[in-house]
This record gives sequence, C-alpha cells and structure tokens, in this order.
Amino acid sequence: MAPVVKQVTDSVTFGEGPHWHSDEGVLYFVGIGAKVGDGVAAVHKYDPATGKLATAKLEISPHFILPIEGKKNHFLITQGRKVVEIEWFGDENTPKILRTVTEVDQDFPGNKLNDGKADPRGRLFTGTISNYDGMNELVTKDGSIFRIDPSGSTTKCASGVICANGLCWDLKEKAFYYIDSMTYVIQRFDYDVKTGDISNPRSVFGVKENGLTGFIDGMTIDTDGNLWAAMFNGSCVLKIDPRTSSILERIPIPAKEVTSVTFGGPNLDILYVTTGRMGYFSPAEPPPAGAVFAVTGTSAKGHPNVNVRLH
Ligand SMILES: *[C@@H]1O[C@H](CO)[C@@H](O)[C@H](O)[C@H]1NC(C)=O
Repeated sequence: MAPVVKQVTDSVTFGEGPHWHSDEGVLYFVGIGAKVGDGVAAVHKYDPATGKLATAKLEISPHFILPIEGKKNHFLITQGRKVVEIEWFGDENTPKILRTVTEVDQDFPGNKLNDGKADPRGRLFTGTISNYDGMNELVTKDGSIFRIDPSGSTTKCASGVICANGLCWDLKEKAFYYIDSMTYVIQRFDYDVKTGDISNPRSVFGVKENGLTGFIDGMTIDTDGNLWAAMFNGSCVLKIDPRTSSILERIPIPAKEVTSVTFGGPNLDILYVTTGRMGYFSPAEPPPAGAVFAVTGTSAKGHPNVNVRLH
C-alpha cells in the first residue's frame, strides 16, 4: 500500500516540534515567527478525535513544547536561550510562564535554542542555533547540544554546532542521532542510557552525497531503527537506514519547507509532519504549506514520545 498524505490542520505559517501525547491522544507542536510580534509565535494542540486545532499565542517563538511527566498542563518550551516551564490548558488562553529551568549559551547572546526532545529516560536534550539574530546567521559555529537532567542540571554534550535538529534515540543500537542542518550530515553518537552520556560522533548519512537538495530538519525513528527525516526546502520526508546510510523511501509532501515529523495515533503508526511557508529560500508558498499533514500506510511504527522528567 502506498502511503497516503492528508492535510489535518489549517496552515499555521511555520509549524515545528511535533510531540504526540499518548495519554491524551493529541499532537502538541509550536508555531515559529520570523520576528517578534508578527503574531505567529504560538503553542498548538491538534486533537484528531475532533479535528480541532487550539492556538495560544506567545510574544517570543517557542521552538519546542514538551509535556512534563506527571504534571498535567505543565510543559517545557523555549524562549530564546531559556527553557521555561509553562502552565497551559490546551486552549486559546496565553500560557502562564512559571519559571526558567535553565538558560544556556550566556556567552553567546545571539544564540537561540532550537529542537528539543526527552530521551528514553526523560532527560531533556536540546541544542542551539548559532548567532540566530546576527549578521552571520547559520554560518558561525557557536551552538551546542545540552542535556538537562531532572534536577535541572545542564551539561554541554557537544559544541561547534550551527543549527541543532532532529534528535532521536535507538536503545537497541545504543545510538543517539542528530543533525546539524547546515552541515548536511546526520551524526550518530554512542549513547549510554544509564548516564545519558553521548560520545564518539560519526557521520551516517550525507544529503549531498545522495544528490539531494534541501536541509534535514526534524527527525524521528521507527521501531525498526530507521530514521524519518523532514527535508526543509526539499518537499519530502525521507526514510533512511542509518546502519547502511541508504534511502529506503521518499514521501512527497505538498510544501517545500518540511520542518519536522513524529509518529502518533493510537497505534503510533501515523506519521505527523509539520511544515512552513516562511519563504526561506524561495518565494513563500500559499497554504496548505504551513499545515500539519498525517501520513498513513507507511507500515512503520514509532516509539511513544517521552515526556520530560523534572523535579
Ligand atoms: C531550494 O530549493 C530550490 C528548488 O526547489 C533550489 O533551486 C534552491 O537552490 C534551494 N535552496 C537552497 C538554499 O538549498
């Protein structure tokens, strides 16, 4: 059966950071604005049972939204270089910002936190975009990857990053996969689930070596250990086997700016795909670019998305 791609939400301009909440059966994701005050920065909740999309606006763009384990209506989001805890009831009301959990890259004020996920044990991994507000946007390498443990203690795990994206884990392979979008290369780190330490980075897939245009943005992993990668400016999602560095499948998406992916649904077999229409590298597209799409019929399944553990 060929995969079927269906638009499931209205265009939100620039969707990112999808997280499927298995207990609630809903998809949380964020809306990122090109600049502060453009009215696009938001947290979103899509409920497939009703088809309803809830949007709560924020002043500063969040780059991810992750539920906090055991604390209903509490989430971690980013605000610039800060990770903050918010209370949000999944409606149209502005979330309440409760506290700053950590502030990273104090020595690089132009940096901004980007993608973030909880590892299999609920530790938050996130990374920065280097000099995001500066003249050398997406050229300097002052970003890093961080691990934030349940105590809030923050550890720098890797540096020299331009744009941190696509974090996912494979317990069987003892692997952590990540991409610096601007280096066009997916990296595999050895991952120690007991300590959360990552080490020994090496390249497992190159965009240019495979003759592709676009940047790998968000990424997830299925239960067979294959990666599903959003191709920004590439109008597709790729299924990649990182063990053989090969492309297994290409799913066209009706938007150039494909930003991220995650598996969801009651059986974790629906691939939710966020997209944008910011017009980064070519004229901005009309909707449905910027919508969330659901891909069914891939015959792949994901792992449950993990909520963040935080004391
Ligand atoms: C974006 O995609 C178009 C093709 O659709 C290509 O011509 C252009 O070079 C791409 N831009 C970048 C920066 O990769």
